[in-house]
Amino acid sequence: MSTYSKMSKLKQLIQQLPKAELHLHIEGTLEPALMWSLAKKHNIDLPFSSVEDIQNAYQFNNLQSFLDLYYQGADVLRDQDDFFELMWAYLCKCHEQNIVHTEIMFDPQTHTQRGITYDVFMPGFAKAIDKAKTELGVSVYLILSFLRHLSEDSAIATLQEAQPYYSMITAVGLDSAELNNPPSKFQRVFASAGSLGFKLVAHAGEEGPPEYVWEAINLLKVDRIDHGVRSIEDPKLMAYLKQHQVPLTVCPLSNLKLCVVDDMSEHNIVDLLNDGLCVMVNSDDPSYFGGYLNENFYALVDKLSLTEQDIVKLISNSISASFLPEQQKHEWLTRIQHICPS
Ligand code: HPA
Ligand code: ZN
Repeated sequence: MSTYSKMSKLKQLIQQLPKAELHLHIEGTLEPALMWSLAKKHNIDLPFSSVEDIQNAYQFNNLQSFLDLYYQGADVLRDQDDFFELMWAYLCKCHEQNIVHTEIMFDPQTHTQRGITYDVFMPGFAKAIDKAKTELGVSVYLILSFLRHLSEDSAIATLQEAQPYYSMITAVGLDSAELNNPPSKFQRVFASAGSLGFKLVAHAGEEGPPEYVWEAINLLKVDRIDHGVRSIEDPKLMAYLKQHQVPLTVCPLSNLKLCVVDDMSEHNIVDLLNDGLCVMVNSDDPSYFGGYLNENFYALVDKLSLTEQDIVKLISNSISASFLPEQQKHEWLTRIQHICPS
């Protein structure tokens, strides 16, 4: 079989297998066309002259250069319908790409800081999530993420304000500018969230050093690490992650766009997988980074020698590392096994 037809067979398999996505920021799914139409709707002056001009601005040299545009973009989200539309568009994409379960981060402080309250965004999200459940069969969990460039007191207040919506939330997370904002800054709020019964995740080892991954594990007691690709620099950490099967939610196109790697052919996801770590593929902020979940897989197929077995393992890991009940995990894993008997 030619290399081309081998690759297209792998891409078909990626489309066909039921998948979970575990690292996705809903604000990062805001497509330029929706940003443009919401700006028009609310009479907001954007510093762009067209939808294409917005798209062309998405060239980043590090995490901060992206975050600046990401927070600016989120300013067009003003009313309940906007949040519904944002969430609904992403969940339709999940349906298209055969993502059967997704665990979505949202950043309350991005909205509350500009006077948009939980009572605006949560009902908008809820309406889209309920509709997706009944009309598309996509299941959704939410992860409330704290902005780490803000204070821990602000995170504590953010968790408290979410109280009327706790039943909609599965986990808390930690995102935004990593360097100089170590996990240790958020020990108290993670301890409270843990004692309230929330699952815990944190971005670490994206731009930050392996030490931040250790802190997320030892001080925040996280269930998963978001990104974590810099763990490979610390052999002791690698051994720990393997032994305890701590999931790393890796985001290839994000790493490329934010210059964490110079070229996709240098991405370490296959090394992490071959070292026995529980890694899987995610899209992070698909509108900004040039692709949703399947496009992240396709970029790996194009640039790394990924086998069918690797793909099945990555996708099975997405199910195993999710916060779904064990019975549901088992059902999806069995379905994957039927499609791809090993
Ligand atoms: N890293 C940190 N914060 C973020 C990201 C990311 O990749 N995406 C959205 N917020
Ligand atoms: Zn992220």
